[in-house]
Amino acid sequence: MKRILVVGAGGQIGSELTTELRKRYGTENVVASDKRRPSEEIAETGPFELLDCTDRDAVKRVVQRYKVDTIYHLAALLSAVGEKNPLLAWNVNMGCLLNVLEVAKENNCAVFFPSSIGAFGPNTPKDNTPQDTIQRPNTIYGITKVAGELLCDYYHQKFGVDTRGVRFPGLISYVALPGGGTTDYAVEIYYEALKHGKYTCYLKPDTRMDMMYMPDAIKAAIDIMEADGRKLIHRNAFNITAMSFSPVEIAQEIKKHIPDFVIEYDIDPVRQAIADSWPNRIDDSAARTEWGWEPEYDLESMTTDMIEKLSSKLSIKL
Ligand code: SER
Repeated sequence: MKRILVVGAGGQIGSELTTELRKRYGTENVVASDKRRPSEEIAETGPFELLDCTDRDAVKRVVQRYKVDTIYHLAALLSAVGEKNPLLAWNVNMGCLLNVLEVAKENNCAVFFPSSIGAFGPNTPKDNTPQDTIQRPNTIYGITKVAGELLCDYYHQKFGVDTRGVRFPGLISYVALPGGGTTDYAVEIYYEALKHGKYTCYLKPDTRMDMMYMPDAIKAAIDIMEADGRKLIHRNAFNITAMSFSPVEIAQEIKKHIPDFVIEYDIDPVRQAIADSWPNRIDDSAARTEWGWEPEYDLESMTTDMIEKLSSKLSIKL
């Protein structure tokens, strides 16, 4: 029987992952935790603990109290916010992961760690970016993701901790907002298109990056932890993607539903430089071969679903 702890359950991934894990493994078997109280849906429909994961003893207490055997560690500062406070990003992203891995080692837990396309850098091949390639990111976020991938490999090889993970692309959802990433425009654009018919984008029109709709990201996080460990050659940091597009292309797709939608551009040099240092499209064949990864949504089907769900959430009639 799985007993799961979600660290960062109130965040963009955590709020949907927690709900899905509870459906699959039973509400009582999925403990949500966050340093702030999340939505009622997360905090009041099942076990919830206020948890600051920079405090290793606190992580240990929760793991032991609920006899946790699997930890989804999602708490982290994203790329753009990390550039505003690099020291905090290092301390939170590395400190919390180290705490989770140490507690996992002592309490025999499996660990899911989300890496990112941010783990690549300006001299990584941009198209069909291989699973194993140059990783010299130039953001503090990317540096913590590469170090995190290596640390997870190390805890597996040295201590036998069952660490697994994927490199997520930009994630798009209508439930919780992302917290300060470079790919956030691809979420904001839907809100602004519906609310105001207009969006001012902080990236250039042709800036191409990998993206994924949240239901596919949730499926990936669950499937990799369910996969047969003997078949995993990489274990950590599998490239996964579902689509690759630029601001101009997502705007064109939105226009099919909202014909008067207008996109304008006001470039933020910091986020533009980060986006330019990331791949255009990564190669996810290792994930497909080793654990059967296959996304369901492309730009067209995601846009149809986003507009339907978001217009009902915002009570906007089209
Ligand atoms: N979505 C993240 C960011 O933009 C990348 O993993 O920071």
